[in-house]
Amino acid sequence: MSLSTVILAAGQGTRMRSTLPKVLHSLGGKPLLAHVIEAAQQLSASDIHVIYGHGGSQVPEALNHLQVDWVEQAEQLGTGHAVAQALPHVPDKAMVLVLYGDVPLISPTTLRRLLAEAGADRLALLTLFLDDPKGYGRIVRDAQGSVLRIVEEKDASEKERAIQEVNTGILAVAAQRLRHWLDRLDNNNIQGEYYLTDIIAMAVADGVAVRACHPDRPEEVMGINDRAQLAQLERVYQTSKAQALMLQGVTLLDPNRFDLRGEVTVGRDVVIDVNVILAGEVTLGDRVRIGPNTLIRNAQIGDGVAVLANCVIEDAIIGTDSRIGPFARIRPETELADHVHIGNFVEIKKSQVAEGSKINHLSYVGDTTVGRDVNMGAGTITCNYDGAYKHRTLIGDRAFIGSDTQLVAPVRIGDGATIGAGSTITHDAPSEKLTLCRSTQQVTIDTWKRPVKTPGK
Ligand code: UD1
Ligand code: CA
Repeated sequence: MSLSTVILAAGQGTRMRSTLPKVLHSLGGKPLLAHVIEAAQQLSASDIHVIYGHGGSQVPEALNHLQVDWVEQAEQLGTGHAVAQALPHVPDKAMVLVLYGDVPLISPTTLRRLLAEAGADRLALLTLFLDDPKGYGRIVRDAQGSVLRIVEEKDASEKERAIQEVNTGILAVAAQRLRHWLDRLDNNNIQGEYYLTDIIAMAVADGVAVRACHPDRPEEVMGINDRAQLAQLERVYQTSKAQALMLQGVTLLDPNRFDLRGEVTVGRDVVIDVNVILAGEVTLGDRVRIGPNTLIRNAQIGDGVAVLANCVIEDAIIGTDSRIGPFARIRPETELADHVHIGNFVEIKKSQVAEGSKINHLSYVGDTTVGRDVNMGAGTITCNYDGAYKHRTLIGDRAFIGSDTQLVAPVRIGDGATIGAGSTITHDAPSEKLTLCRSTQQVTIDTWKRPVKTPGK
């Protein structure tokens, strides 16, 4: 049997109080719906149909890079109606797996177990026992313990409401059967909706066995209705990512204060201090140390690199044994070679810095190529922008740039050149020579007196 996954994502999500459709809110830096689609993609041979509706084309547009079949449900008439929208696209011989765009942490392992229970004559249902079953559909069983039907809370009797086994909504059922049952659904219930859950009683009536199984962990089936639940599941997600990293050999000084919003590849003996956010695709080499309060997005950090406290590194490559920060900002398209030192209050943008060079204090380096073993003094500024265009600065190997120097691009500093402190360099500076530019000779005014306050005035 082939597998067709149907993901329901057409609902409004009123309680989010948002203009953004609920399934596009982020968890771990990724839309809720993307998590569900990725779980489905991990099941072999699954064609994936996503039912969208509320918020119009926003949902398919935001996720149009994902390989799924988008099916519109113009009016949200209930979960049964939603699944029915996908069925024309589902082959007759398929097994249909129903998932939800706002239940983001469902695991492929649980789904494989559910699918193993399902067959041509067996419907598999994911259920859960809850101390407080409020809000969920309840699983009604007979005296022998066989599942008979599902009753929605709003339609349930007092006795039924006491049932603690609830419907997660996730189920697997043969397409041919499902088609037949969905055709017969009605909306004669309190909510006036076409309930997917009504197919359970139809299955029982048709002699199809209903098998209930449970998720590996209850968090997997938790849905998100409001931002408090979103924050709760974010923590669950982050805790599991942190656990996995620690088992891979990463030291997290406090796993509760670590956030991964993407994917990270780690070497051995990486140490991460508190309040570090890794986003996008990040690679950390062996022995990388990351100080507290640091954001790293889409970056490759080489072996032995130390990122000290309070740094922001985005779309950059940092070479082996380099040292960054504290308080450094490495902006996109920056490549630092090995043994580079970038110190406090230094901003580097779209620049290459070769091996062994140091930019340790209070500098802006943009659109610049820096050679090897260069020393850029405190307060060096590349003036890369003339108001209309960006220009490049080229700095040769072993150059020494004195403190408080402006390099007005386009400009080239030769190999081994020395630039005197406080210079504004507007023309190329030759190799191996001292170049400086100060508007006046140093003078001392003998007659000058420092003002003093007159008492009583
Ligand atoms: C549903 C189940 C209930 C279960 C609960 C688990 C039904 C009738 N009830 O109830 O047994 O315990 O989920 O959370 O299935 N959706 C659409 N189109 C629609 C209606 C819903 O895409 O026309 C989507 C919603 O966006 C949502 C999901 O389906 O993601 C569930 O719908 P919702 O109305 O929240 O169902 P519940 O009342 O929670
Ligand atoms: Ca719900």
